[in-house]
Amino acid sequence: MTREEVFELLGRLELGEVRAASKNEAGDWSPNTTVKEGILAAFRMGVDVESIAGPFSFRDRDTLPPRRPLPNGVRVVPGGTSIRRGAYVAKGVIVMPPAYINVGAYVDEGSMVDSHALVGSCAQIGKRVHLSAAAQIGGVLEPVGAVPVVIEDDVFVGGNTGVYEGVCVRQRAVLAAGVILTASTVVVDLARGMELRSTAARPLVIPEGAVVVPGMRPAPGEYAKAAGLSIAAPLIVKYRDAKTDAKTALESALR
Ligand SMILES: CC(C)(COP(=O)(O)OP(=O)(O)OC[C@H]1O[C@@H](n2cnc3c(N)ncnc32)[C@H](O)[C@@H]1OP(=O)(O)O)[C@@H](O)C(=O)NCCC(=O)NCCS
Repeated sequence: MTREEVFELLGRLELGEVRAASKNEAGDWSPNTTVKEGILAAFRMGVDVESIAGPFSFRDRDTLPPRRPLPNGVRVVPGGTSIRRGAYVAKGVIVMPPAYINVGAYVDEGSMVDSHALVGSCAQIGKRVHLSAAAQIGGVLEPVGAVPVVIEDDVFVGGNTGVYEGVCVRQRAVLAAGVILTASTVVVDLARGMELRSTAARPLVIPEGAVVVPGMRPAPGEYAKAAGLSIAAPLIVKYRDAKTDAKTALESALR
């Protein structure tokens, strides 16, 4: 495909003349692979250009403005996105709008920060991490001794997840959509038959390669038992396998 053909396709998509998927007579949807290939070609053929949000105005502390110029080699897609002074964002990171990367955060090479994602102050994000749409990585500024949230290399953080209060997610773990982890969360490892909790000395640690999904356990106490109540307890249903890899694989052309 040439650049001209890519632009023509984008124009036709905008006019609704072609679609990326279509419905058959039985009501089932199937992708239009040619269109999708064209969209991927648009990523591949595109070159990074900087643009300025001229008409927008903001007001904030003069000590912590958004970083300018942008860190080298980082693509920031136009929208309500900001990388605050004091945040490190490595080469190859993609930040989709709107997203916010707060002071002290570290986002390593090749990671994706999707729309509505927050990388809170001081959060440490490894290489090739995928922070899905609306993933919230909490900031830990105070007390100064408190460990920040850590997301190690190759972790997949699903949509609408929340990781707060110094929780550490080890390499290659997968947090399914909707998992919430705080320092008080009890995680039950069904694969290894054990509970994981934080202690005063050690934050909650999600083991390497764990696949964590939202779950419940019986709420403690007689009242809860009588009323049949449950309390949230994310579950490790298994350790990452080829199926998980396939589900969480990322489109290399998007990077
Ligand atoms: C975790 C995830 C990747 C599935 O991984 P997987 O390796 O394919 O998991 P499996 O299907 O083998 O699941 C193992 C077990 O956990 C259960 N399970 C998997 N994901 C679950 C979820 N999100 N919630 C509840 N249970 C889940 C399965 O039903 C299965 O149980 P079973 O053995 O009794 O059938 C997927 O659930 C997920 O959350 N994907 C991320 C979606 C997302 O946020 N995308 C970002 C868009 S921006």
